[in-house]
Amino acid sequence: MLKSDAIGRRLRKGEPLQHDLLLADAGSAVIAASQPAVPPPTGRRAIHYSGYDRERRDFYATPDWVTEALLQHIRFRGPVWEPCCGDGAISGILAAHGLDVVSTDIADRGFGTAGVDFLTCRKVPMGCRSIVTNPPYGDTGSHAAQSRSSKAMLEFLRHALGLTASVQGQLALLVRLQWIAGQRAAEVMSAAPFAAVVVLRQRIRWFDMGERTNTAQHHHAWVVFDHAHPPGCPPALLYA
Ligand SMILES: C[S@@+](CC[C@H](N)C(=O)[O-])C[C@H]1O[C@@H](n2cnc3c(N)ncnc32)[C@H](O)[C@@H]1O
Repeated sequence: MLKSDAIGRRLRKGEPLQHDLLLADAGSAVIAASQPAVPPPTGRRAIHYSGYDRERRDFYATPDWVTEALLQHIRFRGPVWEPCCGDGAISGILAAHGLDVVSTDIADRGFGTAGVDFLTCRKVPMGCRSIVTNPPYGDTGSHAAQSRSSKAMLEFLRHALGLTASVQGQLALLVRLQWIAGQRAAEVMSAAPFAAVVVLRQRIRWFDMGERTNTAQHHHAWVVFDHAHPPGCPPALLYA
């Protein structure tokens, strides 16, 4: 298997990758909870810089270790759809783990198929069984905009749940940990086939802005849904 950085380079150059499908039984989707934590990056990259401009259309590339942490715990039924693929950061790691990946984005970031608005899609791409993404949070990074962000995330979650239900599929979204505690989020997630939450103990540093940065502001977690999850079975709490 190619190393993930080599995979990422090839994907960014638009070179094709060959990989086998990784098909798993629905019942074994959650891997052992006692795996060692994925080592965080050694370089210091900060998330929050007071006064910075929010990237256009909420573009923030997910560091490799964050996707590795998800895959350490969850086995996905493929092919997987990354519907907000950005420059392919998550797609590259999924592919490096042997999954076939369909990558789309509303914007053209030189990767995947551009011009696809996830919220207007009525079905998953042909053959896809799972959705994995770090969705747009829809805020400006400010506290004042966080309720709008919460609603945008809920809309995204509801839509993704509907699409994955049609294929008895899985869904993993990277969210701010505190978002899970919101009243509406709790209602939607409790009514959904909520299979696992993978809590990242290390805070994500999205940017390296040198001395102008301060410490990462938010903790994040992967929330994982599986339409094959046994009804009434509580979600697994997993740490990475
Ligand atoms: C936070 S970035 C994450 C990028 C990539 N998933 C990653 O983790 O590296 C969110 C991405 O969602 C895309 N996006 C925003 N709204 C979208 C929509 N309605 N449909 C599809 N993509 C969208 C943005 O263009 C951006 O690339």
